[in-house]
Amino acid sequence: MADIGVIGGAGYVGLVTGVGLAALGHKVIAQDVDQRRLDMLRRGISAVYEDGLEPILRQLIDRNLISFTDDQGATIRNSDALFIAVGTPSLADGAADLSQVIAVAERLRDEIQDYTVVVVKSTVPVGTIDVVVDVLSQKLRAGEDFDVVSNPEFLREGSGLIDFFAPSRIIVGATSERALKLLREIYEPLLSGSVVVDVPWIDSGREIPYVETDPTSAQLTKYAANAYLATRISFINEIAGISEKVGGNISDIVFGLGLDPRIGPGYLKPGIGFGGPCLDKDLRALITIAVENSYDPVMFDGVLRRNELQLREVMNKITGALGSSLYQKRIALLGLAFKEGTNDVRHSLSIRLYRALRDQGASVTGHDLLAVDEAKELEPDLEASTDVDAVLAGAEVVVVLNSEQIYADIDWSGLGTATLAPYVIDTRGVLDTSALEASGITFDILGSTG
Ligand code: UDX
Repeated sequence: MADIGVIGGAGYVGLVTGVGLAALGHKVIAQDVDQRRLDMLRRGISAVYEDGLEPILRQLIDRNLISFTDDQGATIRNSDALFIAVGTPSLADGAADLSQVIAVAERLRDEIQDYTVVVVKSTVPVGTIDVVVDVLSQKLRAGEDFDVVSNPEFLREGSGLIDFFAPSRIIVGATSERALKLLREIYEPLLSGSVVVDVPWIDSGREIPYVETDPTSAQLTKYAANAYLATRISFINEIAGISEKVGGNISDIVFGLGLDPRIGPGYLKPGIGFGGPCLDKDLRALITIAVENSYDPVMFDGVLRRNELQLREVMNKITGALGSSLYQKRIALLGLAFKEGTNDVRHSLSIRLYRALRDQGASVTGHDLLAVDEAKELEPDLEASTDVDAVLAGAEVVVVLNSEQIYADIDWSGLGTATLAPYVIDTRGVLDTSALEASGITFDILGSTG
């Protein structure tokens, strides 16, 4: 079993990766600068919501397989492999901000003593691995003191542990056989289905594809995956827009489309667009990579543009229902996080919608099952609650922004007979239209007419 350090170990990717690797039996030190999160994690509490994480974390702490520290030097010196999971935010021009990755590389250069494999988990532009190698090579010898490997993550927020323990694939990009061998050893327990703590997602009957390639291809595979998912979403949003104009029904269209085995049903939910920390950021970074290499990414420009326009589509529906003045109009937003099943409100298009409505003087209330505190922290003036009935009360317009089952289960019958029945805008197509009709509610489904 290996000694593994995770730099950025209290962040989303770092924590899921650290917990996952420790559950494979490795001894993991998760290093981070965020003291508050480290203190919580030592007590078995995670600041990010992730299904099933805390019980596994506690088992690992009890078995001494994971520890949390702010000491970067000790983490580096005590690890056979160091997983770099620090943030790569976007710069204003869309390029990835590599300052954290470079700062870590400089520390590695000064601290590495024995041969160490540096595994880049963070999604970084092609060429970054070369930068990391250059920094390390100022003092150390590549192939003898260190090797650098790209091992992109494909973790969805909220389903990160499932994606770790039952991955669709593991991609490892390296040129050194010694480094590839260590990575194979690290992942071997996962490939053979032998974890050391109780994990429900292991399917030992299924073979996990393990792909070894060069670092550039590994990094591009990650960008390609997120660009493709973003493209599907913009694609279906554009079909929804056309469908609405010509009198189609988007849920029937999505169903019929997804039955084609060459297309499949996933990532075809229309809505306010793709939010979250990855799809938009990675697509912008890929566009920058293309432009910097004298390639014109016309298609991806269009994917981003459609995503920006989706917010306006939803705004148009609201002003279509309420008139152009939104002053003191009561609007309920159902779903504040960037998607269902997470408490992450960063890069949430619902929050952008809230800001646009607030700036026009509307009186907005918001509902979310997991993200109310986070939304209020970001937007202290937002009235938000986990009680859907309270949020709906008195609303003139209700906008459904994600696919949470609780919204499909709303009983509209009382609301339809209220003096001021709400106008319901369903951006996700999750509501039961016959129940809405029976309740006398006027509604508007994104992508469908009538
Ligand atoms: C994504 C990738 O899925 C993951 O593999 C990668 O490593 C990180 O980025 P995540 O950002 O957690 O994961 O969210 P995801 O579940 O992919 O959803 C992204 C956005 O697309 C959300 O705003 C979601 O609501 C939206 N979406 C998703 C749609 O609008 N329609 C869909 O059909 C699917």
